[in-house]
Amino acid sequence: MPRTPVDLPVSVDRQASVALTVQLGDRLRTAMREGTLKSGERLPSTRALARQLSISRTVVTEAYQQLYAEGWLDGRHGSGTYVADLVIHTPAAPRRSPGAQEARAGDGDGPAPSGAPAVPLPAAARGHGGQVIDLRPGRPWVRDYDEAAWRRAWRRAADLPPGDSPDPYGLPRLRRALAEHLRRTRAIAVGPENIMVTRGTGNGLDLVAATLVRAGARAGVEDPGYRVARNVFAARGAEIVPCPVDEDGVVVEGLPDDLRVLYTTPAHQYPLGGRLPVPRRERLLAWARRTGAIIVEDDYDAEFRYDVAPLPALHGLDPERVVLLGTLSKSLAPDIGVGWLVAEPDLLAAVARTRENLGDRTSGPAQQAVAIMLERGDLDRHLRRMRLEYARRRAAVVDVLGSLVTGDTAGLHVMVELPAAVVPSLLKEAAERGVLLDSTAVRHHHGDVHRHGLVLGYGSASLADVRRGVAVIAELLGPWLADGAEWRSNGGL
Ligand SMILES: Cc1ncc(COP(=O)(O)O)c(C=O)c1O
Repeated sequence: MPRTPVDLPVSVDRQASVALTVQLGDRLRTAMREGTLKSGERLPSTRALARQLSISRTVVTEAYQQLYAEGWLDGRHGSGTYVADLVIHTPAAPRRSPGAQEARAGDGDGPAPSGAPAVPLPAAARGHGGQVIDLRPGRPWVRDYDEAAWRRAWRRAADLPPGDSPDPYGLPRLRRALAEHLRRTRAIAVGPENIMVTRGTGNGLDLVAATLVRAGARAGVEDPGYRVARNVFAARGAEIVPCPVDEDGVVVEGLPDDLRVLYTTPAHQYPLGGRLPVPRRERLLAWARRTGAIIVEDDYDAEFRYDVAPLPALHGLDPERVVLLGTLSKSLAPDIGVGWLVAEPDLLAAVARTRENLGDRTSGPAQQAVAIMLERGDLDRHLRRMRLEYARRRAAVVDVLGSLVTGDTAGLHVMVELPAAVVPSLLKEAAERGVLLDSTAVRHHHGDVHRHGLVLGYGSASLADVRRGVAVIAELLGPWLADGAEWRSNGGL
């Protein structure tokens, strides 16, 4: 691909009411979708494009930043801005097995596998047929992936002989690939010696709990929070201590001094969606250093941010006090059963001993296949495509539910804040109309429940189904939607 920048076929209208940044972003997206701008092509510098369009350089920079955050553009350090590898221009014949074809029937307009448009246009709805629309949180879109890459990884994994004594840390090859992946996607500077391959977050939590928690020890969990974390610690004999959360994440003031562990989701609080601000991260770490608690950082969907880059992981700020858990469950599929646990080497060695004692391991062939996908960049490409797709689904929710939506522009779910009284009937009525949702109640710092709402996941429903589901919710919400902003600014109920 030529390294000279393309002549961009775009213009903006200064008389229009739409902001110039938005106009420019829209024009560039259209050019990329339609193939006028192709993967790998270099965009003009912000200065050159600003001059060409007679607009301020800030407008161009902001439009580029937005497209970069959405995954359309790639920045190569020191060498300009390029159209990302979107796999949207090659009209190659789809390589699908008959089974896969069947599984896709009626999927609406989700992202397509490699070789077919990853950004199908227009968003035409295909055969809905009145089936249930599942907008419950927690599940990713697993129906579209690069099948050739998937098969290649497993074929190559199958070429290798099975091992006879599983390493409790996992395969060195995968640990090296994960170290590189964490460096690039999360700016976490760790080596293979800091990484254990798990079967996912649940497995990682259990290994931490079995290593650190003695019967009766107190384990803090976010409230509201991930039910599996609570269950795992309770099953290992911990006394569960619910820890309040607000719109930014876990509240540090008031955390008890006698917690052995604290489970938290700082990148994207589950389910409220806050991103823990840096000063609060520092206060949280200061609390852990003072009390001796170990923080368990669940980084479950940190790859999916649609506006700004994720904040540095807690683990990077204080590796001695923080165990980080990652998973392929959101970025690829829960079924694979591969995740990672990052900790300082002494703590990791203790966890490895626990693992051997428990006879626990991750499948070797699964580790090989994941290592191959990471080494070849297949997972990166998948993430880029899915980032675009989820950003569009999230935008479809926000378009309709607007000011009722809370949570950062990230992840695979949003919370829709509502008066307590309407939540149960809304869940029921939505289910009667074929739309499944979840709900949550948020505790105030003093323990009184004071905020309620729906938790709406857009991971496992296609864009078309998300739109349909949200239209049903909007109908049911009626007056709350009209008064939403006012209701919230009055402090809710
Ligand atoms: C908060 C949170 N953490 C982690 C996970 C993934 O867990 P696992 O890796 O065990 O599949 C989920 C999945 O729903 C989740 O909601």
